[in-house]
Amino acid sequence: MKIIVGPSSTDLAEKVADLTGFEKVPVASRVFPDGESYVRLENSVRDEHVAIVNTTSKPQDSNLMQLAFMANAAKRNGAKKVTAVVPYLAYARQDKIFLEGENVSIETVAAMLKAAGIDQLITVNLHAETALNKFSFPAKTFTAIPLLAEYFLKKGFKEAFALAPDKGAMYIAQQAQTILGGQAGNLEKQRDRYTGQTTHTAAHLNVKGKIVIIFDDIISTGGTIVGAARILREQGAAQIYTACVHGLLIGDAEKRILDAGVEEIVATDSVPSKNSKVTLAPLLSEALRAL
Ligand code: R5P
Repeated sequence: MKIIVGPSSTDLAEKVADLTGFEKVPVASRVFPDGESYVRLENSVRDEHVAIVNTTSKPQDSNLMQLAFMANAAKRNGAKKVTAVVPYLAYARQDKIFLEGENVSIETVAAMLKAAGIDQLITVNLHAETALNKFSFPAKTFTAIPLLAEYFLKKGFKEAFALAPDKGAMYIAQQAQTILGGQAGNLEKQRDRYTGQTTHTAAHLNVKGKIVIIFDDIISTGGTIVGAARILREQGAAQIYTACVHGLLIGDAEKRILDAGVEEIVATDSVPSKNSKVTLAPLLSEALRAL
């Protein structure tokens, strides 16, 4: 296998190549003044199974196009199999119709990737596993929550309370709880489908005087974490931390979260930023070795 070093995940792709020992295929890429993308594979991929590591966080559309272009380039240049390693898969949250007249974005993305020549896909903490059904080729999602929980364990936070900010994320809090060994719980969150605004409902949680880590798959505007932190403060949590797999952290999200009394934001390198304190490289390397 060879690792195609996608322009949106250069560091992560190199770490994966180092850990697996697979040869790297560098990619020349640029965005033209009109906004269109260009890619060129700089080493041979003939008769190889290639893994393209390229995340599709902001700018989603150009990162997705570059992924599709690299897949097409690989096939045209004789690659026998193309595996897309997409740590953050854009458009996965629109995996069903919420309001009349909408589309199912992830279905369109899956069809586009198939048309580009991708034969299988690996991603991490896909928002809902049911979205995998939209792919007409093998697609798998892996969880990075144990890696995030281990980060806190190393900080000495054994038995910290793992909180999910909504019911849907309870499985995430439970995965963290398995590593941390403390309690887990969840809040209730309602989202206005027209404005996107969220509100939280406070259930009684056993967090008084405790270190609480709010675990989620994605932090985008930060509204979910700010709402959850407010309830935790009201209920007497001693210290609040947050961890997510995909730290999109749009606009002033980071500042809003820290201003809400959260001590630290921890994310993976699925979306590279200064908050990417946990690397997905071991997880992805193992997934590729197992193919
Ligand atoms: C949604 O259910 C996700 O799991 C996240 O909770 C959500 O995407 C976070 O968005 P925001 O940071 O904008 O509240």
